Amino acid sequence: MAASAPAVEVDNICKAFGPTVALDDVSVRIAAGGVHALLGENGAGKSTFVKLLSGLLRPDSGSLKIFGEDADLASPRAAHRTGIQTAFQEMTLVSDLTVLDNMLLPYAPAGLSGLIQRKKARQSVISHLTSLGISTDVDRNVSELDLAERQKIEIARAIYRNPKILLLDEPTSTLAGKDVDWLGETIARLSAAGTSIVFITHRMPEVREFCDTLTILRNGQHIVTTSTADVTDDEVVEKIIGRSIDQTFPPKPESATAFGEPVLGVRNLKAGRKLDGVSFDLRQGEILGIAGLQGMGQLDLFHACFGMDEIAAGQTLVDGQEVWFGSPTEAMRPNMALGLLPEDRKTEGLFLKLSGGQNASLPVVQRFTRHGLIQPAKEGAAVRSAFASVQLDQRAMWTAAGAFSGGNQQKIAIAKWLVAESRILLLFDPTRGIDVGTKHELYVLMRDFVSAGGSILFHSTEIPELVHQCDRVLVLYNGRIAAELSGKSISENAIMAPALGHGNAQTEIAS
Ligand SMILES: Nc1ncnc2c1ncn2[C@@H]1O[C@H](COP(=O)(O)OP(=O)(O)OP(=O)(O)O)[C@@H](O)[C@H]1O
Ligand SMILES: [Mg+2]
Repeated sequence: MAASAPAVEVDNICKAFGPTVALDDVSVRIAAGGVHALLGENGAGKSTFVKLLSGLLRPDSGSLKIFGEDADLASPRAAHRTGIQTAFQEMTLVSDLTVLDNMLLPYAPAGLSGLIQRKKARQSVISHLTSLGISTDVDRNVSELDLAERQKIEIARAIYRNPKILLLDEPTSTLAGKDVDWLGETIARLSAAGTSIVFITHRMPEVREFCDTLTILRNGQHIVTTSTADVTDDEVVEKIIGRSIDQTFPPKPESATAFGEPVLGVRNLKAGRKLDGVSFDLRQGEILGIAGLQGMGQLDLFHACFGMDEIAAGQTLVDGQEVWFGSPTEAMRPNMALGLLPEDRKTEGLFLKLSGGQNASLPVVQRFTRHGLIQPAKEGAAVRSAFASVQLDQRAMWTAAGAFSGGNQQKIAIAKWLVAESRILLLFDPTRGIDVGTKHELYVLMRDFVSAGGSILFHSTEIPELVHQCDRVLVLYNGRIAAELSGKSISENAIMAPALGHGNAQTEIAS
């Protein structure tokens, strides 16, 4: 292998899925060593590029070299042999298996001699995880881990096999705060030891912090490869979406009197593992933010409000009346009209084998039936209009949800609650994995939704979203409300201090 050969060299690569051209004559060189960002809108072709390098997909045409040598990556094993390891966007851990079994897949030792090797492998996995600062018990089933822990194991597994090239497909869309710092440090360490890293993200600060070069794809085409130092954030955003955005967040209403009656309330609510006595009201026309570091009770709160988790104590109110939801179906009934965008869209939000259109109309399909028969015209019109609102290509109507890029799956999940004509939306980190342009559209959509009389309970792991998008923010710490902020008192610092447990559960309310 030539010393100066690029880690990855692709020439004139094309890859289509039926009529969709995912990669359109792409030629890119990724230098050896260093951390390379791969950027682009939802559906731009990033994951397809990663899957070609991982041996999961074959290109239709074009050639590929790894460290200067022609490479035929016909299978994941072939990619592994070339020194390529991947942490995938839609994680590939098997949830019924333990962390240990997953770490060893697909090379787990078997048979009698395998038993001894397995003991050794177990030790080696434990010390590997420890060296990465991961304390997860290797005998736990992956299904018991939260999304962030799973993501870290997915990454740890790729690193375990000592890759020369490490591909990270949107690892931070499921990580926040300290875990993002953890990844940054891990990447820096691997890079210093000579690993070449390709890192996909939708967040500019991470590109600045972790990456020295970047490549932008748009509509499957290669737009630019450059040093990060040579471009401004605005230039990058413009190249990603092909236009500039003047203003990321839409304006908020001037005063708190713009809000109506309470539509959703909780009183001393205790639920799930963490939520420990929370009271608040969400008012009509309001975007109420729920802030908190991971695992502070926000998930319990969203699940309890939507009838997914049993309530241990306290009350839930809709329109001032006490309600008790035995299941999400009851929360979705027309007089309640709640909708939840869940944390893990892959397992909770969508049926990947059904079309985007079917997924979108599923929660309220009875609304489109007459005498037991679905009225396709009525259903189609409602879904088409929801898809247009979230800027989703109309092909999503008949294409299986599983064939959509990660961000576009998220859009289908959002469209579902627009079709359902929900009036109270519970949005749990809705912009996770969504590209910069669509994020902006989603912020506008949220503001339009509440201006038209809806209400939104909104959790985000991106603090600036809470600051700029919410009318009021409740900060959770250890399952309780540690601070309430509104109007001009909402700032990153004002959120972070109580989120970290500082500030003596002080309540600050601006007039
Ligand atoms: N298995 C498949 N079948 C059909 N179409 C597919 C398949 N995989 C990807 N596509 C299409 O190829 C295009 C590129 O998808 P890809 O997953 O590479 O996007 P991406 O850049 O990773 O987007 P995101 O940021 O949302 O993850 C999209 O239009 C997508 O719908
Ligand atoms: Mg992707």
